[in-house]
Amino acid sequence: MRTRLFVAGVLSLAMWGAGFSAHAADQPLPRQEWSFEGIFGTYDRASLQRGFQVYKEVCSACHPVKHLSFRDLTQIGYSEAQVKAIAATYQVTNAEPNDQGQMFQRPGRPSDPIPGPFPNDQAARAANNGALPPDQSLLVKAREGGPDYVYAILTGYKEAPAGFKLLQGMNYNEYFPGHQIRMPQPLSDGAVTFADGTPNTVPQMAHDVVTFLTWAAEPNLEQRHRTGFKVMLFLIVAVGVFYATKRKIWATAH
Ligand code: HEC
Repeated sequence: MRTRLFVAGVLSLAMWGAGFSAHAADQPLPRQEWSFEGIFGTYDRASLQRGFQVYKEVCSACHPVKHLSFRDLTQIGYSEAQVKAIAATYQVTNAEPNDQGQMFQRPGRPSDPIPGPFPNDQAARAANNGALPPDQSLLVKAREGGPDYVYAILTGYKEAPAGFKLLQGMNYNEYFPGHQIRMPQPLSDGAVTFADGTPNTVPQMAHDVVTFLTWAAEPNLEQRHRTGFKVMLFLIVAVGVFYATKRKIWATAH
């Protein structure tokens, strides 16, 4: 009995590490395999970098990543020099005006936040038929189903079923609540070219960009997993010690 309780305790601790919850919407979300799931989960650096490329070349036309600065990209395996070069490909508005009191554009620096596509939410709505493309830096954490949900949206565009009333300017998506989404299908086969030769199919690009967006929302996940693992080890050892001590004490008590 006691051993069974002990085993159940260890098991539930292990499951606690497994992470993201299931989706409650009408359509059950297909579960994907993610390298970052489970207590030993880590981010795949190559996938993170491909995902950043997909974000940069596709999603960033509409969605900002408000919480990311260029220098954060060193965490996904880019060197300081590479980050400098990436930042310099962007034009950013300097925080301070020039000597004539005018705001001016200059190439980005590692310390700059990654600039979004629109100066404000109103401009973003105006360019998207009234819909606001949400900030992507916290999106994966903000939605039930997390990475599986975002992956499902990206791969869930279909022909609307016969009889479905699709409103003007909307697209049918199997996994978006209500099935009508303003975002046009963002990914199509071949949309980007990966330098490492990875096939640029929709599922592959979706997998990589979701990995990148999960990192954006949870940059400390690996650290958290390591700490969680240490805590688990400690608890297992502690339970063993307590159990042995208890037996010893009770043995002499008779
Ligand atoms: C042409 C502009 C545009 C592009 C490009 C685009 N999106 Fe969107 N996206 C939108 C808009 C607008 C919405 C809001 C949808 C709505 O309200 O119907 C949205 C919504 C979403 C949602 C649903 C969020 C929710 O509220 O649950 C996800 C997920 C998403 N986008 C991911 C992406 C990813 C990943 C990419 C890049 C591969 C991308 N988008 C590219 C415009 C865009």
